[in-house]
Amino acid sequence: MSVPPWLESLLSSAFFSVCQTHGDAARGECNMYCLDCQGDAFCYYCRSSKHKDHQVIQIRRSSYHDVVRVSEIQKVLDISGVQTYVINSARVLFLNERPQPKSGKGVAHLCEICGRSLLDPLRFCSLGCKLVGVKRHGNASFTIDGRGEELREGTQQDIYPSTPSPPPSSARRRKGIPHRAPFGS
Ligand SMILES: *[C@@H]1O[C@H](CO)[C@@H](O)[C@H](O)[C@H]1NC(C)=O
Ligand SMILES: [Zn+2]
Ligand SMILES: [Zn+2]
Ligand SMILES: [Zn+2]
Repeated sequence: MSVPPWLESLLSSAFFSVCQTHGDAARGECNMYCLDCQGDAFCYYCRSSKHKDHQVIQIRRSSYHDVVRVSEIQKVLDISGVQTYVINSARVLFLNERPQPKSGKGVAHLCEICGRSLLDPLRFCSLGCKLVGVKRHGNASFTIDGRGEELREGTQQDIYPSTPSPPPSSARRRKGIPHRAPFGS
């Protein structure tokens, strides 16, 4: 179980306030976070002056909730198990759990931590809920591993099998017992 040192700080940061220094400028809202400095949010201009060669993540908003682009965050974090959404033609995920009405009956997939209904058969609604899952249960991980050379070796498949394929249908057949035709035929 391993949580990057900047993650909790990122999730508890307040974004979209007006920059004290650049508040009058067009891009003066604090929507950036630096993984190297792990300080407060800052604006576009602060980035150019103070975080030039740092790893910076841009926070975006969807209905007043903070989101990050999957293409940015997946370089630094294993986001598997977290629900993603396509918003304004970019794939994003939510930083934190968001208040919700009680989910209706018959919802198939729920966040393991907060119970929000999910679109896909995944475990968490947000990075925040995955963080709780990692810390509390230890059965999720943020660590990106198996990158680079190891992936090309081909041994990876033995260690991390992909979704197991269903057993061949003949395995279920028993001699002498007639079996039903498959559904939908
Ligand atoms: C992770 O652990 C929690 C608590 O034991 C459990 O409720 C949850 O189903 C587990 N998830 C998986 C995918 O193992
Ligand atoms: Zn600024
Ligand atoms: Zn920095
Ligand atoms: Zn959740």
